[in-house]
Amino acid sequence: MSTPGTTGLVLEEGLSFAQSVKGRIGYSLPPSGVPENDPTAKLPKTLLRKTPATLPEISEVDTVRHFVRLSQQNYCKDVGLFPLGSCTMKYNPRITEEVSKIPGFANAHPLAMPEATQGSLQLIHELQQYLAEISGMDFVTCWPSAGSHGELTGMLMVRAYQTSKGNPRKKVIIPDSAHGTNPASAAICQYEVVTISSNKDGILTAEAVAGVMDEEVAALMVTNPNTLGIFEENIQEICDVVHKKGGLVYCDGANLNALLGIVKLGDAGVDLLHFNLHKTFSTPHGGGGPGAGPVGIKKKLEPFLPNPVIVKENSVYKLENRPQSIGRMKAYFGNFGMLVRAYTYIREFGPEGLRKISEMAVLNANYIRKALMGTYHLAYSRPSLHESVFSDKLQKDHGIKTLDIAKRLMDFGYHPPTIYFPLIVHGSLMIEPTESEPKDSLDQFIEAMKLIAKECEEKPDFVKAAPHTTFRGRLDEVKAAKELKLRWNP
Ligand SMILES: Cc1ncc(COP(=O)(O)O)c(C=O)c1O
Repeated sequence: MSTPGTTGLVLEEGLSFAQSVKGRIGYSLPPSGVPENDPTAKLPKTLLRKTPATLPEISEVDTVRHFVRLSQQNYCKDVGLFPLGSCTMKYNPRITEEVSKIPGFANAHPLAMPEATQGSLQLIHELQQYLAEISGMDFVTCWPSAGSHGELTGMLMVRAYQTSKGNPRKKVIIPDSAHGTNPASAAICQYEVVTISSNKDGILTAEAVAGVMDEEVAALMVTNPNTLGIFEENIQEICDVVHKKGGLVYCDGANLNALLGIVKLGDAGVDLLHFNLHKTFSTPHGGGGPGAGPVGIKKKLEPFLPNPVIVKENSVYKLENRPQSIGRMKAYFGNFGMLVRAYTYIREFGPEGLRKISEMAVLNANYIRKALMGTYHLAYSRPSLHESVFSDKLQKDHGIKTLDIAKRLMDFGYHPPTIYFPLIVHGSLMIEPTESEPKDSLDQFIEAMKLIAKECEEKPDFVKAAPHTTFRGRLDEVKAAKELKLRWNP
């Protein structure tokens, strides 16, 4: 049984198995009318259970309460500001949810013939064109199901392109400010990763790239704006350096939320770019998905697009399999519901609205940055775009670490920001408010951060023991990481 809450109305919740009462049932079905069969007579012995499955026996009301109670222990964007730098937790407008539930979309059978799914194909085809227009690329594929999956798709296309030129090449250059998925994607495609340092301003220079660029480099993989929230302003020169030696430029476009309607990275010379629809175009993001990470490419990479390619012929949408394709990256229509949401978002805002989104995202981030400058140490003083990276340098003398600040923020009702990433900033604290926050919400957050900084000086032990008012106190992070138990064992 559940016991009354430890924190107000948030109730302590046991496992559903522990709530099981023999004979309790949460459904009622009419008799099936089908004669019963003895499974032991029909199935091979190896497939038969030795003991019956231990499933919880719970009534409907208890089942509903169980899941509602669990959901109350979650923090989400619908509850308050969620300042996860790099992860871009923006509000998901309800209209996009509504559109994704239109029965023709929600109930479309994944194996239906193209003739029966013209509307869905039209939506994906148009979304691809919008994304190409937004980024300055020639084509887009919507199949990849996350940013990192987009990276993998892009790297496979890099490999296919270079192979078609006679040599797949050996190396991929990646800056030290890269997201961890970048080197992983290159390595999965059997490329050796060459790390290159950002300069003192936190960006790449054409000279640094020229220093490691040779004819064995298949591509440079650069995030723009990078994971410090800073625009890689030398991108055009860098693309020239890479292209001169036959390399390609892959742009991790996960941070496109800062550039909508302002910069088209394709115009700067980028050959491939992925979009994180769940970050930029406001589709649900969390717990690893389901997301969508479409990839944009320049014309020379077109033969290698993942199959099938949607083509429009005389107003009819068809699926085409191409011989030089890298193959299928995802079954059926990818995470189609996410594509519907992103399409709706783009249509809802239009070109002017999208530009405004980025302007507001940058303004909000800089409002926080300016307000907290001096209270928290800024790792790079250069102006940043949609997020800012602070560190614990000014609090360290009181024995306070970034983790302590993040934990104390929870007492003020905020999900902590991203911490200890990017790796090039020691003790980093990465804050991204996004455009969805109104000014008073930013002011409240700033006030909480300032109060914590004061506490760090006046009562550091109190901060080190935070959180104090949450449903759970400070967890043993090492134990949680090393003894993770995700499966119930009877
Ligand atoms: C810069 C950057 N690149 C790549 C990714 C990976 O995207 P995903 O989490 O969708 O795999 C992220 C994730 O937030 C990111 O911030």
